[in-house]
Amino acid sequence: MTVTPAADMLRLLGGFEISQALYAVARTGLADLLLSGPRPVTELAEAAGVRSDLLRRLARTLAAEDVFTLDEAEDMVGLGPLGTTLATGTPESVRNVALMWMETHYLPFAELTQTLRDGIPSADRVLGQPFFDWLGQDPAKVATFSAAMADLLRTLRQDALASLDLAGAGSVVDVGGADGAALAELAERHPDLRGTVFDLPHVVAAAPELLRARGVADRVTAVGGDFFASVPGPADCYLACFILHDWPDDRAVRILENIRAAAAPGARLFLVETVLGEGTQPQIANLMDLTMMGMLGGRERTRDHWQTLLATAGFRLDRIRPTKGPMCVVEATLQP
Ligand SMILES: C[S@@+](CC[C@H](N)C(=O)[O-])C[C@H]1O[C@@H](n2cnc3c(N)ncnc32)[C@H](O)[C@@H]1O
Repeated sequence: MTVTPAADMLRLLGGFEISQALYAVARTGLADLLLSGPRPVTELAEAAGVRSDLLRRLARTLAAEDVFTLDEAEDMVGLGPLGTTLATGTPESVRNVALMWMETHYLPFAELTQTLRDGIPSADRVLGQPFFDWLGQDPAKVATFSAAMADLLRTLRQDALASLDLAGAGSVVDVGGADGAALAELAERHPDLRGTVFDLPHVVAAAPELLRARGVADRVTAVGGDFFASVPGPADCYLACFILHDWPDDRAVRILENIRAAAAPGARLFLVETVLGEGTQPQIANLMDLTMMGMLGGRERTRDHWQTLLATAGFRLDRIRPTKGPMCVVEATLQP
C-alpha cells in the first residue's frame, strides 16, 4: 500500500474527529457495555441510547484504530485491544482522561495559533481565567479532573511511585497531591510512613474519604492551601508528582522555595515528571509539553533545565531515574 504524505497528513488532521469519536464511546458507556463480550450492533445501540445506523459507522472507523472489532456479516461489535481502556475501572482504563480532555482541554486548543504568537495559554483566553481557577468553580469538574489524574497515576505513574527510594523516611508531604491516591499507595507500601496530602482546599476535600477507604487515615492527613503561599512542614521528604510541569520557571521556583522554607534540614525531594530526551515513550512527554503550552503556560523540561531550576531554589539534583513508563523520578536534596 502506498501512503502519500497527503494521506498521512489527512490522518493527522483528522485527529480531532477520532478524539471526539473516542470521547463519544467513553461518554455513552459503549465500552462498558461490551466488557462481557461482543454484541449485536442494534442491541448495543439500544442499550447505549444511540442510533444503530450511526453506531455501525462509528464502529467501522474505530475498528481500524483497534478500539472495536466489527463483524459486518454478523453485524456484531466487540472491543478491540484498545477498547478496554475506555471502559470504567479496567486496569488500563483512561476513560476519565477521555472525559477530561474532551470536556476541558478540547475547546481551548482551538486557540493554539494565538498562543504561539503571544504565549498566553489558550485556556486563559477561552475559559476567561487560569485553568485551575476555572476548574475550582465546579465540583463536578474537579471530580472529573481528579479521576483523570488517578487514571494517569495508575497507568503511567504507578511504577514511578513503586521505585521511590523512601528508605529512612519518616514523613512525606505530597505537594499538589489531589485526592490523596498517590500518598495512600505510598502509605500502603511503607507501613511506618506518615504523610500529608496538600492541595487546593476544594480538591483535597475528597482526600479524607479516600484515605479512610484505603485504611491509612490514621497516618495520612489532608491539608488545604495554596502552594504559592506556603506548604506544610517540616517533613523529611517532599513529593511533587506532575506539579512543576504545570508552571513556568518563576512560578515553579516559587513552589520549590516554599518547600525549602517548610522542609526539615537535608530533606529529600522527589519529582515525578517527564525529562525531555530521557525516559521511554518520548511522544507522551512531547504531547504533555503541548498540553502545558495550551492549558497552563507550563512546560516539560530537560535534565539541564531541571538541574538549574532546582539549584535556583536551593536543591541539589542527585539523580534522575527512568521508569518503565514515560515518567522519570527526579531526586534532589535540600542544601544547607
Ligand atoms: C496535574 S495535577 C497532579 C495531581 C497529582 N499530584 C497527580 O500526580 O495525580 C496538579 C495538581 O496541582 C493542584 N494545584 C494547582 N494549583 C495549586 C495551588 N495553588 N496550591 C495547591 N495545589 C494546587 C491541582 O489542584 C492538582 O491537583
